[in-house]
Amino acid sequence: MTEQILLEVQEVSRSFGKFQALSNVSLKIQPGQLCALIGPNGAGKTTFYNVVSGRYRPTSGRVFFEGRDITRAPAHRLVGMGLLRSFQITNIFPALTVLENVLVPLVVHHGSSFSCLGAIEKRRNLAEEAEQILSRVGLTGQSHRVVSTLAYGDKRLIEIAIVLARRPRLVLLDEPTAGMNPEETDRMIRLIKDLSERSDTTFFITEHDMKVVFSVAEKIFVLNQGGLLAEGSPEEIRANPHVKRAYLGGSLDAAGL
Ligand SMILES: Nc1ncnc2c1ncn2[C@@H]1O[C@H](COP(=O)(O)OP(=O)(O)OP(=O)(O)O)[C@@H](O)[C@H]1O
Ligand SMILES: [Mg+2]
Repeated sequence: MTEQILLEVQEVSRSFGKFQALSNVSLKIQPGQLCALIGPNGAGKTTFYNVVSGRYRPTSGRVFFEGRDITRAPAHRLVGMGLLRSFQITNIFPALTVLENVLVPLVVHHGSSFSCLGAIEKRRNLAEEAEQILSRVGLTGQSHRVVSTLAYGDKRLIEIAIVLARRPRLVLLDEPTAGMNPEETDRMIRLIKDLSERSDTTFFITEHDMKVVFSVAEKIFVLNQGGLLAEGSPEEIRANPHVKRAYLGGSLDAAGL
């Protein structure tokens, strides 16, 4: 049986002036595989996501999504193809309600024009779809609240709902639990795991909390100084001497992993 590949990155490098932020990174992700990208601060994780999601062009190398070369594709085209990066809270409209925030990407996704016949029905269907998405992320009952009044953790859940409204195939989440308290972190991680198991969306996350990474990821990639240091199952990564060395005194030891 041939191996199914959702994302394939081939020898990607990215420089900023003379500084090489990514060097010859190659990796493959299979559909449905919950993957994590880890590495010390400045290792190149966000740069990698920026390259894969079309925000930065690689200096060299190629990126394939569902077999198609997307190396030079701009971010908006990739969104249309189902490859999304988390938009961070800045993409949320704080003055709108929770429901309205999810309706915006749904309208864009369906390309709806409300000026034609059947507009009311269409609008009702979209609102139902938005409610369903909100219930999937655990925001049932919050639809009519204005976003600016919500707790930080709930705002991050709206971010996930907005991403889901585009029916993505692959979602890159850069530190989805950053700034969260332990309960919010738990809830976010359970959500990502649940969505990964129950939907057609594949998640690729970066995360600094090693306990979180080792408990959810099926496959882990380790970046260090722009290069891919290791890849494998959590057990393989935990036992890898190069990884231990890169993290010496850092989060791997601190987390007792
Ligand atoms: N636009 C840019 N211009 C110049 N240098 C950059 C740019 N973006 C990233 N870098 C540099 O590339 C290196 C990798 O940065 P990146 O943000 O990708 O690391 P990271 O692994 O995401 O780190 P963190 O864990 O702190 O988020 C850093 O040294 C950073 O200063
Ligand atoms: Mg980063």
